[in-house]
Amino acid sequence: MNIDRCKMIDLPKISDPRGNLTFIEGGHQVPFDIQRVYYLYDVPGGSERGGHAHKELQQLIIAMSGSFDVILDDGEKKKRVHLNRSYNGLYVCPMIWRELDNFSSGSVCMVLASNQYDEADYYRDYADFIQALQ
Ligand code: TYD
Repeated sequence: MNIDRCKMIDLPKISDPRGNLTFIEGGHQVPFDIQRVYYLYDVPGGSERGGHAHKELQQLIIAMSGSFDVILDDGEKKKRVHLNRSYNGLYVCPMIWRELDNFSSGSVCMVLASNQYDEADYYRDYADFIQALQ
């Protein structure tokens, strides 16, 4: 089951009364080489993002600020994961349909990705995604 490969990764946290620090090093905390970083911000209340799957892309999703939910779906099983810690990352393997919702006001969703942007790597139609799993 693909969904069982999606896991929360605890990132290092250096606690400090001056403010906490978390770091991510390529090849260490994430199981892929980081080729791209992007982030969602200024998300209006009630908004939904995602709504697609990737053929090969691997990602680590982090709530840098605030909170939101990620709904994972491998065509057989669904799981809703609440992200609200900047020292936790949700690893999402290929061939997972994902949706993001429940964004708190001012939240920032940062995504580390294993490849540069490539529209050909997307399934944007759920029926096409299910078909590809057969
Ligand atoms: P999309 O991946 O659909 O956003 P989300 O999954 O967060 O809802 O991308 C939205 C638009 O932004 C789409 O036109 C493609 C573009 N885009 C890039 O140009 N580069 C990127 O790295 C990403 C993630 C998206």
